[in-house]
Amino acid sequence: MHADNWAQKAKSLGYRSRAVFKLIQITEKIKQIKNPNLILDIGAAPGGWSHYLANKYPSAEIFAIDILEMEQIKGVKFIQEDLRNIEKIDQLSSLKNKFNLVISDLAPNLSGISSIDEENILELNLLTLEGAIKFLDNNGVFIVKTFQNSNLKKFRKEMEKNLKIVQTAKPAASKKQSKEIYLYGIK
Ligand SMILES: C[S@@+](CC[C@H](N)C(=O)[O-])C[C@H]1O[C@@H](n2cnc3c(N)ncnc32)[C@H](O)[C@@H]1O
Repeated sequence: MHADNWAQKAKSLGYRSRAVFKLIQITEKIKQIKNPNLILDIGAAPGGWSHYLANKYPSAEIFAIDILEMEQIKGVKFIQEDLRNIEKIDQLSSLKNKFNLVISDLAPNLSGISSIDEENILELNLLTLEGAIKFLDNNGVFIVKTFQNSNLKKFRKEMEKNLKIVQTAKPAASKKQSKEIYLYGIK
């Protein structure tokens, strides 16, 4: 389906963004996601993924973090903060090793200078992975967006060092020409 059609479908189903279909298509592949009761969404605005998960798992407690503001979603506790400060977030301090699902669709602003952008993406991916390792419980699932570039192998290796069953996903709803790609793994 063309990207515009995913956008129309999202609108007609009342989803906040086309990005929801990417999450649906990735999670369909991960049998370890059963009925998560504690979920962390990193880089969550405008809230498509959190909104979808809040509807799918109404009894789950969902925390969402973004540097931008996000419109309120019933069942989602939003924290406006930079991922780099995740350790300083009071609401999360007692929740280490407790999350069943940590997801990140985080995408940094790009400068257009590939060497700078690639280092920036790697830094944020590694920080997200570090956060996921701290906050996930055993057998918790981590899904993260990254990009096909010269650092991808390095990041995947870090995922494999720290998580089990690391896999790549390029969901149909992700534009073919986009370099974005998703990795997931189990703690
Ligand atoms: C592609 S959007 C996420 C879309 C979301 N999954 C949805 O379904 O609506 C990427 C988000 O990452 C956020 N972001 C970028 N850098 C960040 C950082 N350092 N800390 C937290 N969020 C960040 C951006 O503000 C942006 O809202």
